[in-house]
Amino acid sequence: MAEKNLVCRAEDVTAGNPRIVKIRTLSVGLFRIGDDIHAILNVCPHKGAPLCEGPQCGTTAWSEKAGFISHRDNEILRCAWHGWEFDIRSGVSLVDPDVKARTFPVSVEGGNVYVTA
Ligand code: FES
Repeated sequence: MAEKNLVCRAEDVTAGNPRIVKIRTLSVGLFRIGDDIHAILNVCPHKGAPLCEGPQCGTTAWSEKAGFISHRDNEILRCAWHGWEFDIRSGVSLVDPDVKARTFPVSVEGGNVYVTA
């Protein structure tokens, strides 16, 4: 049964500087996008790499006007092993929507960050 776990203070998670915490036996990465904090299991669904040690970054897309463009700064987590990219909010792979990193609900109360896991 999932429990609500106090993991850190909100100011400890800044954009581009994820924080990895332990929740019982789970390793979980915390990522800030704007005012929100998101939690992802630190295991890549591809080959089991420590996913949350990869960079929080943006990605590229094709634009008819400008060729390849960079966008979605800090919304993407790129696995350090083989470069697969995941949407931090949903955990879904950018190239295969059937592949998903596990995510957890996050709440911030009184400046404290809670992850339900
Ligand atoms: S283990 Fe993450 S992309 Fe391969």
